[in-house]
Amino acid sequence: KKVAVGVDIGGTNSVYGLVDEAGEIICEGAFPTRNYPDFDQYIEELYIGIQDLLKRAGDEVELVGIGIGAPNGNYYTGTIEFAPNLVWKGVLNIVEKMKRFFPTVPVIITNDANAAAVGEMVYGGAKGMKDFLVVTLGTGLGSGFVANGKLIYGHDGFAGELGHVVVNKTGRICGCGRKGCLETYASATGIKRTVFKLLADHTDDSEFRRVTYDDLTAEMITKAALNGDPIAIEAYEYTGKLLGEALADAVAITSPEAIFLFGGLAKAGKYIFEPTKKYMEQNLLAIFRNKVKLLPSGIDGKNAAVLGASALVWQSLQEAQEAK
Ligand code: BGC
Ligand code: NA
Ligand code: ZN
Repeated sequence: KKVAVGVDIGGTNSVYGLVDEAGEIICEGAFPTRNYPDFDQYIEELYIGIQDLLKRAGDEVELVGIGIGAPNGNYYTGTIEFAPNLVWKGVLNIVEKMKRFFPTVPVIITNDANAAAVGEMVYGGAKGMKDFLVVTLGTGLGSGFVANGKLIYGHDGFAGELGHVVVNKTGRICGCGRKGCLETYASATGIKRTVFKLLADHTDDSEFRRVTYDDLTAEMITKAALNGDPIAIEAYEYTGKLLGEALADAVAITSPEAIFLFGGLAKAGKYIFEPTKKYMEQNLLAIFRNKVKLLPSGIDGKNAAVLGASALVWQSLQEAQEAK
């Protein structure tokens, strides 16, 4: 049986899986990205992990390629460049390094949110849609734009950096070195910053008064919102406001049928979807109002970026076949 490896490199965790062409994940592995501050050691760990999956899957599987989704991953150059939310700095030749371990199969990289968009398009809720946008709300904010049935890469391959659209010129310092980028508000780290700002500004009782910044996670904020914590609910409202306003601008550019929200914050359900929808509608140009669907991922419980990254392998094999 032919299998592709899909890898999702995150600021916090790296997840990788063996996936067949139907999108079935045969087996999966994961490790904390930050455990490997040395990039070569990271690649080695990934190699060992993939070998382990292949061993587990046994003799029936044949590896046909490796697809990777990563923050600031570039499909054209095979590199990761200047990622604000990764430990490694500068330009990383990830495809070249992976090729040393896997010389006989294609290795492909794309942006992590682009990989999620491909996953949604091939296996999820965007099947049959030609124009949609995915937004991943993780350590940073990523986006993948699909227009006219194609993922937009742009001239240099970096299209879709919605996380670094400036929403407040004098706002929070971003990992990219500038101020007020959308991801400093609408991301797992952004909402933590909002919680601490609200705690400083208000006297409301909140369970977070006993938590340190390092210990606070987006999941804790989601849980607290579900339990009615006023600071957590307001933090989600504020996050949704800035996200919704920015999405209204994004809609003006590609006129999508739907926007899919992914990642940790999307798990907060109505606490993030309702304010995002409300502020998006308020800020949309009249011609777009009440038309754009705001949806959770249609890939239930599976990692869309792992699936999407593996789908890139099948697509490239298909293209190679057609070129013959
Ligand atoms: C990066 C994007 C990435 C996103 C999510 C942003 O900081 O610039 O390339 O998709 O984080 O990881
Ligand atoms: Na992107
Ligand atoms: Zn930025």
